[in-house]
Amino acid sequence: MAEQPLLTAFHSDKLNLNNRVVMAPMTRSRADNAGNVPNDLMVEYYSQRATAGLIISEGVFVSPEAVGYINVPGIYTPEQIAGWKKVTAAVRAKGGKFFAQIWHVGRMSHPDLLGGNLPLSASALNPHSQVFTPTGMKDTVAPAAMTTAQIKQTVADFAQGAKNALEAGFDGMEIHSSNGYLFHQFFNGTSNHRTDEYGGSIENRARFFFEVLDAIKAAGVDLGKVGARLNPSLDGLFGMTLDAETIPTFDYIVKRLNDYGLAYLHLSEPFTDVSKNEFAEPHIAKHYRPMYQGTLIINGGFDQEKGNKVIADGDADLVAYGTLYISNPDLVERFAQNEPLAKGDKDTFYTPGSKGYTDYPALAEVAAK
Ligand SMILES: Cc1cc2nc3c(=O)[nH]c(=O)nc-3n(C[C@H](O)[C@H](O)[C@H](O)COP(=O)(O)O)c2cc1C
Repeated sequence: MAEQPLLTAFHSDKLNLNNRVVMAPMTRSRADNAGNVPNDLMVEYYSQRATAGLIISEGVFVSPEAVGYINVPGIYTPEQIAGWKKVTAAVRAKGGKFFAQIWHVGRMSHPDLLGGNLPLSASALNPHSQVFTPTGMKDTVAPAAMTTAQIKQTVADFAQGAKNALEAGFDGMEIHSSNGYLFHQFFNGTSNHRTDEYGGSIENRARFFFEVLDAIKAAGVDLGKVGARLNPSLDGLFGMTLDAETIPTFDYIVKRLNDYGLAYLHLSEPFTDVSKNEFAEPHIAKHYRPMYQGTLIINGGFDQEKGNKVIADGDADLVAYGTLYISNPDLVERFAQNEPLAKGDKDTFYTPGSKGYTDYPALAEVAAK
């Protein structure tokens, strides 16, 4: 049988990967809450998955203002960077490639997580969602509309976060500009009602994100080590609603990214069936492949067969797997041997401890039992 496209090596002038199977970024809430520091359990979890062509870490906060969950790691204190060094060293020792996903949740936070301060966003619009706080799930509040000074500070926080990611031993970093969080809140007209240079036109709504890329470059980080994640057809999650300008906004962003020489662009297919939503683009890889000349990662609902097909069809270079990586640490080996996949337990996606985290065995361990 011909080699599976997923299992072929990938080489660009920015990335050299053993295969095209990417572990998608996934928040697993196992960090120590005191200080949001990565721990030994996370060392084990990520190194178990090191045969992925590329691992993208869970979302990692760039500042105390960026925080939106408990037990999620940051990358803005020396303790956090020291914690990540142990994780990246373990992944590297097993031959893995590892990017950090750097993150600010914007309005998807709560004063209980922010020392009593309001979450920050483009506009003071409540997403009418819920947030994990130290005392359980709580309803979101109307955030504060960011001042220009707060935007500039956040741009600086991302530039520092990118430098910290390299210091922590990551091979690069992905900007979390997706899934209804801060940058997405600026992109989308339903969450951004600003009338200054960060709102109104498509160019203005994208300005903050591009300022971050410019600042990362100005801080001396090679943009060839930077990826960006976008979820253009997100609807109905975290207060995100599509409108007539949504897809044209993402078209503008994707085309403009051609000038930035990023490591990759990481896109998600719609998380839900939006085929009847008049504003949605239901076929993200097919729609964006012709617009983007760099490396394209596609994600969202892929299995082995669909992953091989999307690469063979030329619609993406790499495929990111989320939920399958939770329960199959050796996903690459299972694909190679056409072995069945283990099903993950949703109840332990975000719970503390090793259960549902590091206790999914690799095939070799199953066979040895
Ligand atoms: C438990 C869990 C946590 C997630 N956390 C993140 C995250 O931190 N950052 C992010 O960009 N996406 C996150 N996602 C979305 C995944 O990266 C991925 O887009 C999604 O699971 C769809 O891919 P799949 O169909 O292969 O699971 C998360 C998904 C799950 C299931």
